[in-house]
Amino acid sequence: MNLIFLGAPGAGKGTAATKLSELLDIPHISTGDIFRTNISNGTELGKLADQYISKGNLVPDDVTIGMVKARLSEPECQKGFILDGFPRTLGQAEALDRFLAEDGRKIDRAIDIVLSEATLVERLTNRRVCVACKLSYNLKTHKIADNTCPVCGGSLIMRDDDNPQVIAARMVAYHKDTEPLIDYYVRSRRLVRVNSEEKIADTFANILTALEIRGIKI
Ligand code: AP5
Ligand code: MG
Repeated sequence: MNLIFLGAPGAGKGTAATKLSELLDIPHISTGDIFRTNISNGTELGKLADQYISKGNLVPDDVTIGMVKARLSEPECQKGFILDGFPRTLGQAEALDRFLAEDGRKIDRAIDIVLSEATLVERLTNRRVCVACKLSYNLKTHKIADNTCPVCGGSLIMRDDDNPQVIAARMVAYHKDTEPLIDYYVRSRRLVRVNSEEKIADTFANILTALEIRGIKI
């Protein structure tokens, strides 16, 4: 299955994509994670991306499309993949369809995670990320002791772009550039919409139902 997660900042794309990738045994490709790894490693791509990400703006299409195209041409992506945070512009969506079609592939489903703006902002301000294993936690719903990751014991930090000013800019970019993609995938009959006002496990169950994946015990 070739899948895309759409949804505003903080919708829960990464949380759901991580679980689905384990379940389906296909790679989870988060463009935000790739950029952040490059920023921590001080690469040229990281230096460029940081100029945009730190302000809540989108990294230009020519950089992002080439990066995803290269990743999706790797052998492990031939059995299926889950894109999280890509495409985010109409140009990216059209380029993705074009280059997948070149080798007979296509996007099967785009999953839009739907929730109110108030919940999004609350999730972003309460998110803590493990520096070691990169898992995300919600301080309101996960039991966290001493700012330590319950899975690997690493330190939990706030993401640099999870401050009110940058969150506001990310929301503006989402409404302007990414929300129109909902219509793009509706028109090509690939969109499924999933409510995420509920707990993580319930949201995940909604996703499996929307994808018609049955008989899985969560
Ligand atoms: P990216 O890293 O993709 O950030 P984003 O889209 O803003 O989304 P987030 O990662 O903040 O949220 P999420 O939906 O993954 O939510 P999560 O699962 O963590 O991109 C960062 C930046 O990189 C962009 O701003 C842009 O500059 C650049 N970029 C990336 N891709 C690009 C592209 N294609 N083109 C151009 N630029 C690009 O969940 C959030 C929190 O909520 C967590 O704490 C989680 O534990 C919690 N949570 C999740 N689900 C639930 C639930 N059901 N109930 C309670 N808590 C929940
Ligand atoms: Mg994410």
